[in-house]
Amino acid sequence: MNKGKFTVSSFIESKEKGTKISMLTAYDYSTAKLLDEAGVDTILVGDSLGMVMLGYEDTLSVTMDDMIHHTKAVARGTKNAFVIGDMPFMSYHVTVEDAVRNAGRFIKEARADAIKLEGGEDVVDKIRAIVKAQIPVVGHLGLTPQSVNMFGGFKVQGKSEAQAKKLIDEALLLQEAGCCAIVLECVPAKLAKIVSEKLVIPTIGIGAGADCDGQVLVIQDMLGMYSDFVPKFVKKFADVGSLMKEAVENYKKEVQEQTFPEDKHTFKIKDEVLDKLY
Ligand code: KIV
Repeated sequence: MNKGKFTVSSFIESKEKGTKISMLTAYDYSTAKLLDEAGVDTILVGDSLGMVMLGYEDTLSVTMDDMIHHTKAVARGTKNAFVIGDMPFMSYHVTVEDAVRNAGRFIKEARADAIKLEGGEDVVDKIRAIVKAQIPVVGHLGLTPQSVNMFGGFKVQGKSEAQAKKLIDEALLLQEAGCCAIVLECVPAKLAKIVSEKLVIPTIGIGAGADCDGQVLVIQDMLGMYSDFVPKFVKKFADVGSLMKEAVENYKKEVQEQTFPEDKHTFKIKDEVLDKLY
């Protein structure tokens, strides 16, 4: 499917046209290439890689170097999708200068099209500075996994009046600071609808209902490849995990039974060369 490059302007254009935006995560070249060929609008190299690729319990241990390494691979596999590099915990929390420098690494070294970072009021000074450095920024509100220790677990956010009002105010603040889109994670669907209606920029929901302007899922979740923790909002679009296990079981069986490799999988050598080897 070739529909041209999704760019930073495509976010608002899609929202204006009412075309829902598709976003999936990827962390490597071959997966990114498949997603790009399938026509997904944007690929997020999420810090969820800490959990689904590196086996950590949460995203807190992910480093800038991890993110740059994986974002480079994804960018090499992508032609049309808009690639977003996710800024890891502590890469933008200390100073504005750190934030701009680290955001710059995603663009300059990894060739991402934009960065994403988590948080509202507390990080808006960083967002402003990154946008000023000509780097598109995607915001992230609601359940922001880097704040898991402050939330006391992975919990739905924005249920009380005060939390809901704060979320709406912070979404407007991020828009004003120059974000091109905002991920809304684990917020009640009716609140996500209100936020989406108040913003000019699109909302991309994950566990935030159907009224967001786009949706994002972690690729391992939607393909059934990660079973450590499956949130309520995940839909398994294919059971690739079971297919992989079945393929590996068949491979093991064929190796043991010596039915693999077959003649067509092997390379030949001339008899006259062979004769000299005995
Ligand atoms: O890291 C990630 O994959 C994310 C998505 C869940 C939005 O931030």
